Amino acid sequence: MGNYLLISFLLFVYGIINAHSQLFVSNQILPPSCPAPDPTLNYRPIIGIVSHPGDGATGRLSNATNVSYIAASYVKFAEMAGARVIPLIYTEPPEILNQKLNLVNGIIFTGGWAKDGLYFDVIKGIFQKVLEKNDAGERFPLLAICLGYELLTMIITNDNNILEEFSAASQASTVQFVENVNIEGTVFGRFPRVLLKKMSIDCLVMQNHHFGISPERFQANKDLSSFFRVLTTSTDENNKVYVSTIQATRYPIAAFQWHPEKNVFEWGSSRIPHSEDAIQVTTHVANYFISEARKSSNKPVARQVLDSLIYNYNPTYGGKEGL
Ligand SMILES: *[C@@H]1O[C@H](CO)[C@@H](O)[C@H](O)[C@H]1NC(C)=O
Ligand SMILES: *[C@@H]1O[C@H](CO)[C@@H](O)[C@H](O)[C@H]1NC(C)=O
Repeated sequence: MGNYLLISFLLFVYGIINAHSQLFVSNQILPPSCPAPDPTLNYRPIIGIVSHPGDGATGRLSNATNVSYIAASYVKFAEMAGARVIPLIYTEPPEILNQKLNLVNGIIFTGGWAKDGLYFDVIKGIFQKVLEKNDAGERFPLLAICLGYELLTMIITNDNNILEEFSAASQASTVQFVENVNIEGTVFGRFPRVLLKKMSIDCLVMQNHHFGISPERFQANKDLSSFFRVLTTSTDENNKVYVSTIQATRYPIAAFQWHPEKNVFEWGSSRIPHSEDAIQVTTHVANYFISEARKSSNKPVARQVLDSLIYNYNPTYGGKEGL
């Protein structure tokens, strides 16, 4: 009896949809063809994400010396805004990494802990390439998150001691916009005003770091203050203020002490905000970044892209390993 009712209800609904579609066709409301897409944009952007040393699970999955990982959240973050991902495995020979750099339209530097050795050198080399490509007229955006942000400050100042200590491990925070800051053209440029307001009142961003830079030190350093505009600051557990979002003035480079990818895709810490507003924050950062990548004119050979995409690798679920 229950089944019979359900089926007849479905048939009834189907009948209504059918009547409507006939109405549209007979009145010729549908446009004759779709408008041509903007020829200056690349609608198939590819993002390179640099892998980080270790297995991402402090040895619970692998202790191999050469092992490196990319947290799935960064991959999905690029995908949610309409891009595909090529992993830039930092241990690969430089010539392979260079080939892969020519297959992508933008770069993500992830969070993590490694600040020296081969990893540091590879990040530094890729950062130089980002500058070179942009200087040569190719739009080539970079998003640097947490460790990525910290490494950029070390590389730009040529000072491995530029960072100060802060207490902001596994902590949700607000962001305070710098007074009179012009956000046009920055990562926050297309955020709804009401969401920007909420970010300064509600804890909508996730912090997880032991280092950072105070606004005073940042502004006092000519290398940093001439390269970047400070957009926001945040406050750690001891009420110490640090720079939390910066944007390069002459390059499509945005850097975050916080983690825009976590709100939607990370569940390891109960402190990560997952409210609808928090999800919107992630969405808007991802859309900003990939909209920059669509301006990249680099259109690599399709077959080489397919051979290098992250879909050639198997993901490993680490959520049950006590992360
Ligand atoms: C890695 O090493 C640690 C410490 O020796 C050990 O407890 C762990 O089981 C190892 N992991 C793997 C996957 O072998
Ligand atoms: C380390 O890993 C990379 C990438 O998988 C590989 O190309 C390289 O040959 C490995 N090196 C060693 C010494 O195993």
